[in-house]
Amino acid sequence: MKRTKINNLLKLENTPGDVLIKGWVRTKRDSKEFSFMEINDGSALKNIQVIANSNLDNYSDIEKITTGTSVSIMGKLVESPGKGQKWELQAKNIDIINIAPESYPLQKKRHSDEFLRTIAHLRPRTNKYGAAFRIRSEMAFAIHKFYKEKGFRYLTAPLITGSDAEGAGEMFRVTNLDPKRVKKQGEMNFDQDFFGQESNLTVSGQLSAEMFALALGDVYTFGPTFRAENSNTSRHAAEFWMLEPEMAFCDLNGNMDHGEELVKYLTQHAMDECSDDMALFSNFVDKSLKKRIDTILNSEFERISYTEAIDILQKSKKKFEFKVDFGTDLQSEHERYLAEDYFKKPVFLTNYPKTIKPFYMRMNDDDKTVAAVDLLVPGIGELIGGSQREERLSVLDKRMDEMNLPKKDYWWYLDSRKFGSVPHSGFGLGFERFLMLITGISNIRDVIPFPRTPGSIDF
Ligand code: 4AD
Ligand code: MG
Repeated sequence: MKRTKINNLLKLENTPGDVLIKGWVRTKRDSKEFSFMEINDGSALKNIQVIANSNLDNYSDIEKITTGTSVSIMGKLVESPGKGQKWELQAKNIDIINIAPESYPLQKKRHSDEFLRTIAHLRPRTNKYGAAFRIRSEMAFAIHKFYKEKGFRYLTAPLITGSDAEGAGEMFRVTNLDPKRVKKQGEMNFDQDFFGQESNLTVSGQLSAEMFALALGDVYTFGPTFRAENSNTSRHAAEFWMLEPEMAFCDLNGNMDHGEELVKYLTQHAMDECSDDMALFSNFVDKSLKKRIDTILNSEFERISYTEAIDILQKSKKKFEFKVDFGTDLQSEHERYLAEDYFKKPVFLTNYPKTIKPFYMRMNDDDKTVAAVDLLVPGIGELIGGSQREERLSVLDKRMDEMNLPKKDYWWYLDSRKFGSVPHSGFGLGFERFLMLITGISNIRDVIPFPRTPGSIDF
């Protein structure tokens, strides 16, 4: 008999008679004549209740079944007299695949997130983490669906790179030089390294995406990115996933329109396709989640300039740890104040001072600000960072000189501004931050299967 997944069983209108399920025992209780088990196979949040009659051949073994044990059960699917469940399974045969001993750590109903991080290999077997990672999977699919529907092409940007996309450090080095030999020689000789030069793990697929946008029109990359910055916060990971659309013939306004449409589409998709899992988060994890999601779906996102934001922050009565002035980078306390307290909805901030932004952002006529855009959202702060790109070769050239960038390393990037350059724009959306936004999970470590953060790579 073929196995049926529990999410499919639960959706059945009529009983097919006998079915075969496989999964893990969540709870078990015994009465005189019966044993009741809740089985979960990860396909859905909900369990199915199984009733084992004491007249089953191997009942003495069945009595020994513990929480966490894996089982294969054939039985008759019948309407359940119990509340809150349509179906239950009257077992005809129960095979024990593997008994979980008492040391199985998930005995209690509730464990702290901190504890569950120490058993990241088992936490997806809990309701909360099962739900989180089903949503994560569904959202990755939704991204591809959105872009397929919009006619974008998917680009897989390289993960090993010879350039630093931001013109700033904090990258993970890639090398096959033997550290022991390097130590003896006293220095790293990159000529002898694998690529004959320094190379790193990518911090962003943007520069590759730009090249492809200038050929295929609208493209996106979606993949892992790596940052060695030592920021041990609840919103930073050393390895995270970024979605990066890049659009030819698109200006800053078009870029914001696209970002707003994207965030709304993905949120709606989560509500439509993950309703049970999403309900867990609004009922048990974040009481303000419903309202926040409603705001995302139904409000028009605010759009203001960085300069206006500074003005609002300076006039605010709120005490910030860091003072702001034109030219300072906003801290997350400022970003959250703007989105959460002041506008109470997502807000795009545009036209940042050039001094705090990378070389590729388009220079504005004031020669002081660039056509940058960040999207700040309640509960998180920065969700999206992007810009209109500098498409004018002479301006780009001047800016790279100003910033002392090694132009010879970027010859191909400069080439794109020589041969049929066009206005274009794009941004990066932090996938984990988006998942935090729609689930209310407050630590990035809890939306990544096996998180990598400073000082921590246990799994
Ligand atoms: O603002 P960022 O650094 O922008 C870029 O990398 C651009 N090259 C993107 C582009 O224009 N194509 O990063 C984009 C987003 C941030 O807004 C944030 O959501 C997320 O990536 N992000 C991180 N998420 C988790 N951990 C980190 N350490 C992150 N750093 C950035
Ligand atoms: Mg940013």
